Amino acid sequence: MPKEKFDVLLGLQWGDEGKGKVVDAISPRYDVIARFQGGPNAGHSLEFNNVKHVLHLIPSGIFHEDKINIIGNGVVLDPSVFKKEIENLGAPVEELVKRLIISAKANLILPSHRILDAAYEHSMGNTKIGSTLKGIGPAYTDKVARKGMRVGDILCDDFREMYNTHLKEHFLLLKNYDYHFDLKEYENGWFEGVEMLKKFRIISTEYLLNDLLSQGKKLLAEGAQGTMLDIDFGSYPFVTSSNTISAGACTGLGISPNLTGEVFGIFKAYCTRVGSGPFPTELHDETGNILRNAGREFGSTTGRPRRCGWLDIPALKYSVMINGVTQLFMMKSDVMSGLKKIKVCTSYLYQGKETNEIPCTNETVEPLYTDLEGWSQDVSGITDYNQLPENLKKYIKFIEDQTGIPITIISVGPDRKETIFR
Ligand code: GDP
Ligand code: IMO
Ligand code: MG
Repeated sequence: MPKEKFDVLLGLQWGDEGKGKVVDAISPRYDVIARFQGGPNAGHSLEFNNVKHVLHLIPSGIFHEDKINIIGNGVVLDPSVFKKEIENLGAPVEELVKRLIISAKANLILPSHRILDAAYEHSMGNTKIGSTLKGIGPAYTDKVARKGMRVGDILCDDFREMYNTHLKEHFLLLKNYDYHFDLKEYENGWFEGVEMLKKFRIISTEYLLNDLLSQGKKLLAEGAQGTMLDIDFGSYPFVTSSNTISAGACTGLGISPNLTGEVFGIFKAYCTRVGSGPFPTELHDETGNILRNAGREFGSTTGRPRRCGWLDIPALKYSVMINGVTQLFMMKSDVMSGLKKIKVCTSYLYQGKETNEIPCTNETVEPLYTDLEGWSQDVSGITDYNQLPENLKKYIKFIEDQTGIPITIISVGPDRKETIFR
């Protein structure tokens, strides 16, 4: 029997598109949900029964008791964050070990990676990336430099010596920075986290995933961050340190590209960004504040206010192209209710010429807008597409025409139930 294809779900903008909410909402269609990159820089929120949960490392299928959740080899894992997250789930660990499996090949974030992240950012003054300070960059740096520690190492007899060797090396690096730190603050929780990790199955998840696909099981790969934060295709250097794109699902899980099925591209009906870097459609006016307040645009991981702006179609088309998106899901449509006029950026003015291309080195572009009519109706309780206001339907059609991709889910609120399937 040929292997089942697997689907990928990922963010098309600068992260926080609503991936957690929608993964949870479509989890009933799948047997397995797997994270393939990123780490605790992610904050994926989901809501049901009037309770909001925020996940950083654990896949968003965890609340469905009959699903297998996998943390793949492409993820960087901080044991202290992992332990806190497990405890916050409110389910007995003996239950969770049955539905969460971790790749032995995932790299570890050490306490000293977090300190290095903070020291680098501190030293950069005005050119800060705006990192979440979770140690992501330094952990991926060690991975690529072939100096990293992996989850599987916690099972080795010489784990402690390995840890100390890494620590020494990081201390040498930190000598170059005028940055004061308290390692103990992180270290105790980190080693407790390692003990928690040991309770879970730590294996070569690529075998398991391929076996499951051979058995005809349905797998959803859950992206973190967004395409515009991709290490290669985002606005470098204002990016994260992993490949957030659909190709990253293959390297981050050990599954062949020819098994890719649907690619679900998630985007907000407008745009947000946390941290530094170009954002052509950013609004510095009252409309920006309206979107921030109505959409509660404050970071799920750091609590920072998110920068808000109009939808950017050239950026969306770029993400559709890089990822091979087959279906679009539009999130937070309800947040735009009440805006009389809606602007959509349909091209840029760059060096005096109109273009659809994002300049390769972060030069400033002027967004050129198309104006659309807004809608006043509160759409948050609507479950049937036909009941949506005409101007919202026109907005949806406009984006479909621009991108050439159907919008098959429209999200109208943070709750699992506030989801319109077309
Ligand atoms: P993720 O990182 O892509 O999972 O997104 P985050 O969870 O960081 O941010 C999305 C925020 O929007 C969270 O607070 C969600 O609860 C919320 N959210 C998701 N979908 C919708 C929606 O359709 N409407 C509204 N109003 N909020 C939403
Ligand atoms: P989710 O999965 C939004 C941003 C940071 C910073 C840059 C680099 O919740 O969508 P890093 O800590 O990775 O070195 O930070 O990337 N960033 C995110 N922005 N959502 C995220 O994840 C993000 N993860 C990282 O703000 O600009
Ligand atoms: Mg988030």
